[in-house]
Order: sequence, then C-alpha cells, then structure tokens
Amino acid sequence: MERNLLVIGATGKTGGHTAELLLQRGHHVRALVRRVDERSERLVGLGAQIVEGDVLDLNSLAEATKGIDALYFTYPILPGLMDATANVALAAEENGVQAIVDMSQISARRESASNAARQHWVAERVLDRFPVAVTHIRPTFFAQWLIDTWSDGTGELRLPFADGRHAPIAESDQARVIAAILEDPAPHAGQIYPLYGPVELNHYEIAEKMSRALDREVTYVPIELDEFAAILRGRGAPDHLVQHLLAVAVDYRNGVFAGTTNLVKTIGGSEPLDVEGFVAQNRAAFDLPTA
Ligand SMILES: NC(=O)c1ccc[n+]([C@@H]2O[C@H](COP(=O)([O-])OP(=O)(O)OC[C@H]3O[C@@H](n4cnc5c(N)ncnc54)[C@H](OP(=O)(O)O)[C@@H]3O)[C@@H](O)[C@H]2O)c1
Repeated sequence: MERNLLVIGATGKTGGHTAELLLQRGHHVRALVRRVDERSERLVGLGAQIVEGDVLDLNSLAEATKGIDALYFTYPILPGLMDATANVALAAEENGVQAIVDMSQISARRESASNAARQHWVAERVLDRFPVAVTHIRPTFFAQWLIDTWSDGTGELRLPFADGRHAPIAESDQARVIAAILEDPAPHAGQIYPLYGPVELNHYEIAEKMSRALDREVTYVPIELDEFAAILRGRGAPDHLVQHLLAVAVDYRNGVFAGTTNLVKTIGGSEPLDVEGFVAQNRAAFDLPTA
C-alpha cells in the first residue's frame, strides 16, 4: 500500500538510500532538505517532494510532517540532537504521524563517555515517551568508513582500534531495514535494533579483504588516540565529532561495536553486503591515485 513518508536527512547517507528505495517501491516520499542544491534536485528527479526546512526549527518541521504516515529521523554528529529530537517528536504528535524510525548508534548508553552517544540514548528515551510508535536503530560503524579512511590514497588505514572487531554495515542495507519498518511499523514499535554487517572482522582482516577486492595493498596501521585526534582535526572535524570519535574508539577496543545479527535479512529482506561486496559496489570511490 502506498504510504506518505517523510525522510529527514535525505541528502545524507542512510536517508539518501532510504528515500531512493521508498520511491522505487512506489511510496510518496517527502524529503526535508536544508537547501535546494544538486542533491535535492536529484531526489526531485527520482520523484520525491522536496520541503526546505530545518529540524532545529519546529515550525518548518510542523509543515513537513503534515499528512505524513511515518518518518525517518537522522541527525549528524553535531550539537543540536536534543533540540532536533524534541522538535521531531512534537511535530509528529501534532500532525498524527503514526511512526518514527530513529537513527541512534550501537554505543548509545546512559554512561557513555561520548557526548553524542549519551545524547542518542537520551533522545531515544525522550522519543519513547511520545504517543508515536518508535523504532530505534543502533548500527555499528558504517561501511562508509572504509571509503572515508581510504580517502588520502595512501593505502593505509590509520585508526586507533587496536585489534577490536566489528561487522561493517552498508548504508544501503540499513535503508532496507528502515524502509521495511516505515512500510509496516506496528511489529517494530518500541524495538531497539542493533544493526551489523554479516562478518565481524578486526582491521587487519578488513585491510586484507580490501587488498583483495581492490587488487592493491591496503595496510592497517594501529595508532594511538592523540594521533587520531590530530588526523581528525587536520580534516577539519568539529570538536563535538572529535570528542565522540575518541570516546568510541575506546569503546571499540572494548568490544562495544562487535557482534552480528540477522536483522538486515529478517527485516530488510536480503543478505547484507560484506566488505568485498561493499567495495565492489562502490569501486569508483576507491579509485584514487597511488600515493
Ligand atoms: N557513521 C557511522 O559509522 C555511524 C554508526 C552508527 C550510527 N551513526 C549515526 O548516523 C547518524 C548520521 O546518519 P547519516 O550518516 O545517514 O547522515 P549524514 O550522511 O551525516 O547526513 C546527515 C543529513 O542530515 C541533514 N541535516 C543536517 N543538519 C540538519 C538540520 N539542522 N535540519 C535538517 N537536516 C539536517 C544533512 O543535510 P546537509 O547535508 O544539507 O547538511 C544530511 O542530509 C548519526 O546520528 C550517527 O550517530 C553513524
């Protein structure tokens, strides 16, 4: 059945895949975007309705949620998550939105050392108190990290993760889960879903798989937190993100990001991509000159 669905963060990674998938499946998709640009034009080309607005502005969100059955809410690691969450909850309640899929993360804990992860946990509890069916997804590190950490073209993954493990999850696989919940929210109301890719690996093993998939040498170089902080700041990462990533790097070493489930298959309906599959599907993003 065709549904009226709102995607917040539709110009981003999980929101973009979700909007595209929902449009392919014939739903009416409204995308909240902060500005009209080539990314929003692409969504229009795919059939989305664009609404300009900001989740930090309750009134624009109230407009965006009119006539909406269910929505996907994601917000970047930036200050403002609590305001955004309160606005989304209030606008959804005012307009009778029946369901919210909330992007959280695997490290969301009341006692987390990361400000952002702690805020995710509080945001989940705030949303739980509204009369709307809410489902929280808590992914481990996205597969996109493989691209982001590769982007200097050296073939080195310089990361502070020691020999900790996780199963990278593709954004497109998360979108399958999000879309399935938006299409039929009732069975998922009140659930918290940890989301993982299919194979748990440490970064030596990730580098090995990337080497094979890319047919060039990729090396994992474990580094300490201060070097990681310098790398992040060198890339212009805001303080909030740096604080978060340093804290979750410690979580990662302690196993917080490890694990696998079959939720992508059981809810999303298809087998999740492994590292080789993700690299193959995103081959162009890895085509960088040898350093
Ligand atoms: N990366 C990981 O490994 C990982 C792992 C687990 C969980 N997560 C969670 O994933 C979330 C981020 O999701 P994502 O990676 O799909 O997002 P993303 O690619 O960072 O995109 C964020 C989206 O939100 C939009 N946006 C930003 N501020 C906004 C505002 N004030 N009003 C309306 N829209 C706004 C952005 O628009 P513009 O581009 O125009 O700014 C963009 O479309 C975070 O909450 C993080 O905790 C990430």
